Amino acid sequence: MPNYTNSLWSETAPTPRYPALAGDVTYDVAVIGGGITGISTACLLQQAGRRVAVIEARRIGKGETGKTTAHLTAALDTRYHVLASRFGADGARLVADGQRAAIDRIGRFVDELKIGCDFRRVPGFLYAERPEEKDELLREAEAARRAGVTAAVKSAVPLPFPTLLGLRFEDQATFHPRLYLQALAEAFVAAGGAIHEETQVVDVQDGDPCRMITDRGVVTAAAVIVAAHVPITNRFLLHTQLAAYRTYGISMEMPFATDGLFWDMGDPYHYARLQRIADRTYVIVGGEDHKVGEEDDTTIPFERLEAYVRARYRYEPAATDYRWSGQIIESADGLPYVGRNSLSSHVFVATGYGGNGMTNGTLAAMVLADEVCGRRSRFRELLDATRIKPLAAAKAFVAENVDYPKHLLKDRLPLPGAAELARLAPGEGEVLSLRGQRLAVYRNANGELSALSPVCTHLGCLVHWNTTEKSWDCPCHGSRFDPHGRILNGPAVTPLEAKPLPFEQGETSQRAEAEAARGDVEPPRR
Ligand SMILES: Cc1cc2nc3c(=O)[nH]c(=O)nc-3n(C[C@H](O)[C@H](O)[C@H](O)COP(=O)(O)OP(=O)(O)OC[C@H]3O[C@@H](n4cnc5c(N)ncnc54)[C@H](O)[C@@H]3O)c2cc1C
Ligand code: FES
Repeated sequence: MPNYTNSLWSETAPTPRYPALAGDVTYDVAVIGGGITGISTACLLQQAGRRVAVIEARRIGKGETGKTTAHLTAALDTRYHVLASRFGADGARLVADGQRAAIDRIGRFVDELKIGCDFRRVPGFLYAERPEEKDELLREAEAARRAGVTAAVKSAVPLPFPTLLGLRFEDQATFHPRLYLQALAEAFVAAGGAIHEETQVVDVQDGDPCRMITDRGVVTAAAVIVAAHVPITNRFLLHTQLAAYRTYGISMEMPFATDGLFWDMGDPYHYARLQRIADRTYVIVGGEDHKVGEEDDTTIPFERLEAYVRARYRYEPAATDYRWSGQIIESADGLPYVGRNSLSSHVFVATGYGGNGMTNGTLAAMVLADEVCGRRSRFRELLDATRIKPLAAAKAFVAENVDYPKHLLKDRLPLPGAAELARLAPGEGEVLSLRGQRLAVYRNANGELSALSPVCTHLGCLVHWNTTEKSWDCPCHGSRFDPHGRILNGPAVTPLEAKPLPFEQGETSQRAEAEAARGDVEPPRR
């Protein structure tokens, strides 16, 4: 079986270590999260003269920034004609300005810090493969032009398979995301900034100053930036406007070598680009998105992606190719939420980037640095984290958030019982009903069983097993936990509760399993 958690970036960039927090400290600004949002914000605030600490639960760049495919583009997942209908012509123009400003900001960091991360300006192509997609593409061409984006309709797209029509966007960009991020982090620390890895934030108390409670001490700061990809301090309000999706990537060395960014118009859609590392050229293809926790077998999206690669690129994916998946957070109206957290005075948040988090995360950093420094960002109202756009977003809002109660209801349905326990393979997990208890049961490589409460510690949905990531994923707002219940993705800030297996003391698991397989167990409690 191929390795499904092996990203091109993690294999081709170093991962320096930063010390964990050791006791209580005070800074001007504390940033939660060492991804592109957190590290970029920290750098900009440092440039503005602030003493800044970044608090990271795991390692710098190991979150979604380490799993991206790094298209830096003004061609957003939410198309300009949709944005114009929701935010007006001026709003759509401002969106385009924001994406351009973010790519320029990345380019300036690369120049200023001399970062060797293969930052390149390339064209991007949205392309139609089916006749029914052509009208939408032409409509988007007009909307992009009105928004001030340099884009032109082309009859040919430089791809090794037939397309019907393309929309070419000029001056987009790409880079190696982890080389970029690590260089920013190193420059930040070299200039006196603090990074504390393996330090989990469990609570933030707004105030003057704010108190950030971690598992290794308290950080006191005049302002706190929540750059954790999801809002970990806003437990409910903002989550009604967000939906978590998983998306999949594969990277292969293959002869096709046209530089550029490519996006099809399917649903779910696919994206592709080139990456050169040393003397090798990789093609990275991604897509097959689905809502977190809603795919029973997560090898299937990889199989679909491989079938797509075979059909379009005439390439047979090898077990040695890089494969990985990650999480994207969609917002109700297609734009990120960036700014002061609702009901807070000194806590700021950035989330809801969709599949454009490289540019949106950088733009968020620019907006948040302005906010903290008392400068008025021109993107402030557009991205306001407390905005309500009922007319524009109503449909998307209902579609996305109907899932939370749906999952709570679904979670009351009977679960597989003890017979499944006997069938659980090493390295796999499943939520089962055992002697009347709902348990998230995991069998390790040695065949030993362990159990957790399957109730997500964020807002109480049942987690689902993700077989390729070997994680417990929550379908409601995207929290993820490792097989032992430790947090991989928020918004949860508390691990899953460990539970004893409901077998007699001293009883071997084999005996219990034999009993279970015979059906000598209580039916699940309803
Ligand atoms: C397969 C894939 C392809 C993508 N392709 C693109 C693309 O082509 N272009 C694009 O623009 N975007 C793309 N994206 C999206 C983009 O990668 C993300 O939106 C972006 O990296 C998010 O950055 P971030 O800094 O907000 O989050 P992250 O990089 O996830 O960083 C957040 C950090 O916060 C930490 N954290 C969380 N909770 C806590 C806590 N309680 N205490 C302390 N630390 C905490 C996490 O450990 C993590 O390191 C893609 C994403 C995926 C998964
Ligand atoms: S992530 Fe919200 S309930 Fe699990």
